Amino acid sequence: MALANSSLVTIDDLSNGEIEGLFSLTDKMAGAMNEQFGICRGKIMASLFFEPSTRTRLSFETAMHRLGGSVITAADIGATSLSKGESIADMARVVGSYADIIVIRHPWEGAAKVVADYAGVPVINAGDGGHQHPTQTLCDLYTIKKERQSIKGLKIALWGDLKYGRTIHSLIFALAKFGADILFFPSPGLEVPEHVIKKLIIEYGGELEKYAALGQTVKDGLFPLDAIYQTPSSPHQLAMMSDINIEVELKTGVDALYVTRPQRERFTAGEENQELKESYPVVDKRLLKGKAFRKTLVMHPLPRVDELAYEVDADPRSIYFKQAARGVPIRMALLALLLGTRQLSIPGEDDSFSQPTDYPVYRRDSGISCPNPRCVSIQKTETKYIKPEFKVVDRQPLTLRCIYCEHGFEPEYVASSDWHEGKLANKKYHRADSHWAKKIRAENLIIFDSGSNAEAHGFKPSQSVSAEQRRNSDAEQK
Ligand code: NCD
Repeated sequence: MALANSSLVTIDDLSNGEIEGLFSLTDKMAGAMNEQFGICRGKIMASLFFEPSTRTRLSFETAMHRLGGSVITAADIGATSLSKGESIADMARVVGSYADIIVIRHPWEGAAKVVADYAGVPVINAGDGGHQHPTQTLCDLYTIKKERQSIKGLKIALWGDLKYGRTIHSLIFALAKFGADILFFPSPGLEVPEHVIKKLIIEYGGELEKYAALGQTVKDGLFPLDAIYQTPSSPHQLAMMSDINIEVELKTGVDALYVTRPQRERFTAGEENQELKESYPVVDKRLLKGKAFRKTLVMHPLPRVDELAYEVDADPRSIYFKQAARGVPIRMALLALLLGTRQLSIPGEDDSFSQPTDYPVYRRDSGISCPNPRCVSIQKTETKYIKPEFKVVDRQPLTLRCIYCEHGFEPEYVASSDWHEGKLANKKYHRADSHWAKKIRAENLIIFDSGSNAEAHGFKPSQSVSAEQRRNSDAEQK
């Protein structure tokens, strides 16, 4: 088994066995740090950080230096030709011809995938907007494993900004894949995006119990518990749960509390104006006195702002600085494996809880683009060469997932490409939820993000659309 020459863009790129293999190499390297020098002699790592970073960038650079390799770096978009309007693909091709491996952090979601598509060398995603941060997840999983031996069956609570936290998104899938239960404690308004939840349930086979009915007040310094994801009792088997009781869940105790800061840099103007400070409780001594947290590991990807009190630092349950320190041996092992200077050896069985699903892919030149404003595929410099592409993850309701940023959405209008077999009068577009839409075969499906877009492509509104238009104009007149 080799990982040489592959890229790490999302945490799904690694199987459980590969992650376990990476962890055993990490153990070996961490146990003999000074003996690793020379493993990557002659190799060059390009470190491209176009968003602020302390830990991730410095631990990658430290890792490469400890392996005896060299580092070239660009830490500011303004200092690169991206600021002159160069595309990410062109930059990737050029940097890929200088370096043996590229580590990239970029504010656009899906940017690391584009670099991996064009660089011709292994690429590591060090954070792409609010999408994913797979190497932080490796540090998180490794830390949980070191402290608790196994991840399976643990209860992990995720706290804070579950909407924009990229470390949260990759961690959710990794925890599900290793069979942990997940308790969601979002700051009100910063809940896990629907498309992440949908992927979690469909592709990891567990069940989600929502607790919206409990009321959304912040009581006793604790965010309201929004939902619990319960893993299936064994891989590839659905959990037989009738009724999970939160009291019981919490009484047995939380194994780890993963705290995150509000990701203000990704807030919309409206969210920025909300007084978040009031609704973003702090993890402090008082909170950790609660019964549920008696033996809880307190984790944080860092940096912290106000959400984690300094008084907790001395508590033996706090392990966030250890978690950050482990970034170096983890990234050393990862670099050595992707550069092919070390081989992967997988200990034991690969008992993943993920259930890979082969979705049909939708790729037509016109009609629809990703609605996520931070997606790389819709940025001006990138639309010249990126063709939008989506996985059709559901037909009822029609749901697409962008292959770049993985944002999921339900488009409104569809048509069939075999209209010409009838008369021109048949060139109609339909509401995606109408019974006509359901009849269109996958290979004939044309999807539009708006009625005007469908009409610009020569399609006329079908009865379902005209009826809707009439309803809308009636409503406007009232
Ligand atoms: C995180 C990130 O950049 O997403 N930091 C990190 O890499 N350790 C978390 C954060 O910025 O809040």
